[in-house]
Amino acid sequence: MTSQLLPSPPKTLIDQHGRQIPYLRLSVTDRCDLRCRYCLPERPDFLPKSEILSLEQLLFVVEQCTALGISKIRITGGEPLVRRDLLWLLERIGALDNCAELVITTNGTQLTKYASALKQAGVKRLNVSLDTLCPHKFHQLTRNNIQHEHILAGIAAASKAEFAGLKINTVLMRGFNDDELCDLVEFAMRHNADISFIEEMPIGIIGRDRKLHQLDSFTTESILSSRFMLTPSNHNSGGPASYWKVGGSSTKIGMIAPHTRNFCTNCNRVRITCQGNLYPCLGHDQHTKLAPAIRARDERQFRELLFSALATKPESHQFDIGGTTNVLRYMAVTGG
Ligand code: 5AD
Ligand code: SF4
Repeated sequence: MTSQLLPSPPKTLIDQHGRQIPYLRLSVTDRCDLRCRYCLPERPDFLPKSEILSLEQLLFVVEQCTALGISKIRITGGEPLVRRDLLWLLERIGALDNCAELVITTNGTQLTKYASALKQAGVKRLNVSLDTLCPHKFHQLTRNNIQHEHILAGIAAASKAEFAGLKINTVLMRGFNDDELCDLVEFAMRHNADISFIEEMPIGIIGRDRKLHQLDSFTTESILSSRFMLTPSNHNSGGPASYWKVGGSSTKIGMIAPHTRNFCTNCNRVRITCQGNLYPCLGHDQHTKLAPAIRARDERQFRELLFSALATKPESHQFDIGGTTNVLRYMAVTGG
């Protein structure tokens, strides 16, 4: 199918609630080398390789989306850096005219190896997950033998590579890291990074009592205010976080608080998985299968499916941390 036969696409994608959607989060693998307790069970069923789109097919997805008005692409997983030859894909996305911003979210296990190559491939900003500064707690949380200091060295390598932005992502867990939140902010400051604190979301049934560990954004702010002078920042990434400035530092603190500060009216994104499923909302399992159009490289069908998916984008998530979750898939399927 050639592009000349298609009607010219709209400049901006808009969902059924009038929200502009310039942002695609693309999961390149559901696999991960860690098993964070809030994300995956100890022995997850990963997708068979035959169901996973090739790098060429993922590039087709990005080319189509950028032609339709998507300008920001975040590469996610699972852990994206466990996908073989990922740099091939990144270089090509980074070179696309319509892609203003290529960014990635990683768990940091491969960063000592890849930080500068990511920068060279055109990645502008990097989010790295770090929930604790304590090696013992890290092993308890991630159920893996990867050395915690290796992750810290990876973050240092990313800091040294001087991306346009480096951010630490920390999931808030009462009784686990509430005693370290200020230290994590100082860690971010030392690495010229921002830091986002995320309220745990009930995504995936993984045998975890999420209510037990719930730590909300208001409690977090009062913990942080005991050490830092926080002032609200009008910084707006177009996403779910509200931001605070830290006195005497360029570090910003983001608060991603689905339970205490609903952010859905500002939602600006859709997610596509490595299987080719488009999830219009993180908080629902409802999705549209794009794989037939992607595998056939059928631009018209891809566009029709994308538009019909946007017409079903829910207004809001319905997370209830104390109730039964309505989202069965693991977080690693869409990568947050
Ligand atoms: N709730 C909140 N954040 C989560 N993440 C993974 N699972 C959850 C969850 N259930 C985070 C990871 C990573 C980001 C992509 O999402 O720690 O930082
Ligand atoms: Fe942890 Fe991220 Fe891997 Fe999930 S995908 S287990 S949150 S590192």
